[in-house]
Amino acid sequence: MSKWVRAHTNIALIKYWGKENEALIIPKNNSLSLTLDAFYTDTKVTFDPSLKKDELILDGEKQASGVLNKVVTVLDLIREKAGITDRAHVESINYVPTAAGLASSASGLAALAGAANEAASLNLSPKDLSRLARRGSGSASRSVFGGFVEWEKGTTDEDSFASPVDDANWDIGMLFIIVKQAQKDVSSRDGMRRTVETSPFYDGWLATLDQDLSDMKEAIEEQDIEKVGAIAERNALKMHATTLGANPPFTYWTADSMVAMDAVRTLRKQGFTAYFTMDAGPNVKVICRQSQMAEIKLKLAEYFDEEQIISAKPGPAIHLLEN
Ligand code: DP6
Repeated sequence: MSKWVRAHTNIALIKYWGKENEALIIPKNNSLSLTLDAFYTDTKVTFDPSLKKDELILDGEKQASGVLNKVVTVLDLIREKAGITDRAHVESINYVPTAAGLASSASGLAALAGAANEAASLNLSPKDLSRLARRGSGSASRSVFGGFVEWEKGTTDEDSFASPVDDANWDIGMLFIIVKQAQKDVSSRDGMRRTVETSPFYDGWLATLDQDLSDMKEAIEEQDIEKVGAIAERNALKMHATTLGANPPFTYWTADSMVAMDAVRTLRKQGFTAYFTMDAGPNVKVICRQSQMAEIKLKLAEYFDEEQIISAKPGPAIHLLEN
């Protein structure tokens, strides 16, 4: 049955950066993220015998079939499992504040996996849904669950999936600083491939990940936000350092990203709990206490317009919508 499914975005505190197997999206390393309430995607899939091709209506606009690769990958896997041959009509709405410029592949591909599962009445377990979402986009495997989530890299399609670590029902949140896009994008897919293939720093990155991950899990268990933030910030800086060693070199940082990172360091000197992380784009995310979020937002407004700063709290697992 065709039903609306909602999946929330997630931000990695221990980053996924590089694939062991490109076709199956088996990563080089485990990653760990926080699912967030502020950004999500709603999606409905309808298999329709009258369609010649899969189609995607995103925020009311029909998308060119050339951009549907990830969508078709997930739909094909569902069709194969369910013995369906019909093409699909996919309707999707991204709830991301206007002009935020935030990538939504994690919530988008997770919501698609969930909605296709409903449309095909496959009744997949959360684990199998995570495996399926992973085939669309690696980080989507983590958006199947709420709170803190770990994606176990595994070695095959069967054992590479995410699972919940902690419900994050404590004093932690994230502020998004949406900086202006100044340069051409290198997608995360291309960026990580280039880094794995050419950056001499990549091995150094991989070598420290097990330690980062076990320290992070310990910090989460202790609900020690200073430790969570410090590890996440270090981990993000190491990931971004690998891109500078790539050939040709690249960076996701802009001048505004540097301003944001500096502002976070200044906040720390003033006694706030604030640490940053960044992904495959210039926006900066600030890990902080929910109880200090309003005050930190005001401080950051000394550097950025208020509309550029969005607060987020831990978010829930993928779920069906009533209507
Ligand atoms: C920097 O999941 O977008 O956000 O698997 O190629 O679709 P593909 O990549 P994607 O990569 C996310 C990279 C990251 C770090 C992270 O989310 O762990």
